[in-house]
Amino acid sequence: MDDLLTKYLGAIASVADESSLEDLRVAALGKKGEISLKMRELGQMAPEARQTAGAALNRLKDEIDAALRARKATLADAALDERLKTEWLDVTLPGRPRRQGTIHPVSQVTEEITAIFADMGFAVAEGPQIESDWFNFDALNMAPEHPARQEHDTFFMARAEGDDRPPHVLRTHTSPVQIRAMQAQGAPIRVIAPGRVYRMDMDQTHTPMFHQVEGLAIDRDISMANLKWVLEEFCRAFFEVDRVDLRFRASHFPFTEPSAEVDIRCSWTGGQLKIGEGDSWMEILGSGMVHPKVLAAAGVDPAEWQGFAFGMGIDRLAMLKYGIPDLRAFFESDLRWLRHYGFGALDKPTLAGGLSR
Ligand code: PHE
Repeated sequence: MDDLLTKYLGAIASVADESSLEDLRVAALGKKGEISLKMRELGQMAPEARQTAGAALNRLKDEIDAALRARKATLADAALDERLKTEWLDVTLPGRPRRQGTIHPVSQVTEEITAIFADMGFAVAEGPQIESDWFNFDALNMAPEHPARQEHDTFFMARAEGDDRPPHVLRTHTSPVQIRAMQAQGAPIRVIAPGRVYRMDMDQTHTPMFHQVEGLAIDRDISMANLKWVLEEFCRAFFEVDRVDLRFRASHFPFTEPSAEVDIRCSWTGGQLKIGEGDSWMEILGSGMVHPKVLAAAGVDPAEWQGFAFGMGIDRLAMLKYGIPDLRAFFESDLRWLRHYGFGALDKPTLAGGLSR
């Protein structure tokens, strides 16, 4: 047995890779391995001899097994070291231009919108994407039984069992940020609120998540005329055309009175969309004078303050401006699409430097 031990320990120590080590394990401890066969011979021995031989064989087996495992671990470490030597990476090297990422059209357009409104004195406000029922609906003059709630195709969050408060929602529009901003800053106030919103809807022009930008301007004497000027000024700057025709259409939102939807004049010739000319109209936003109940809900006295609000779809604006046909592609993270429609990472849109270079 000592000979066997010496033989195998020597062989194990000199093996250079894991597969030869495995061959050795089979030769010693495999079903038909040398040690296993010896174990089988125990059956023919006299009981006393069997006891001593059995114990010794078991010890031998354990020792060989332990040596095999130790060698295996050493070989695995060495193999890993070898691999790491060939796979190292110098993280201090500068980025390679060939692999430069691009700015997503939604980010680009959000930056463009922000630059234009900043120039008109609007600050950026934010709110959470998981919103309370009160901010998303009640405070905006949509009580629980209000029929407009149904039109929002709302995603509801789960509540713990037995908790019967109204569930939180994924915000269905950016309008709750109106309330949050007025609560935080009071009046006068001039903010925009870009961000993600969610509705249960999916086809070529709808995705369950999309982007809106809210606008809110409250002061003592702000009127629909100011709303009209701001939106016309915005469209001229955003679409980078001298002439835009906007059409204000009477509409209804619970949180504005009066309310208007706004269409922009455009033409479709040969599948090509042109803004500012032609006989077609394309809806781009909802707007109106903030309802007195909404001001009151946000802690602003409607007897003293008034103003306008609007909400536009950012993705829709990006599609219009950059001629992108399918909304769903926006969120598929297809690298070819991103390379084609993406913007240079360092080209920041500014009014002075040009919005889309
Ligand atoms: N929140 C409305 C919507 O998502 C848009 C809107 C905002 C309308 C502000 C009027 C005023 O459809």
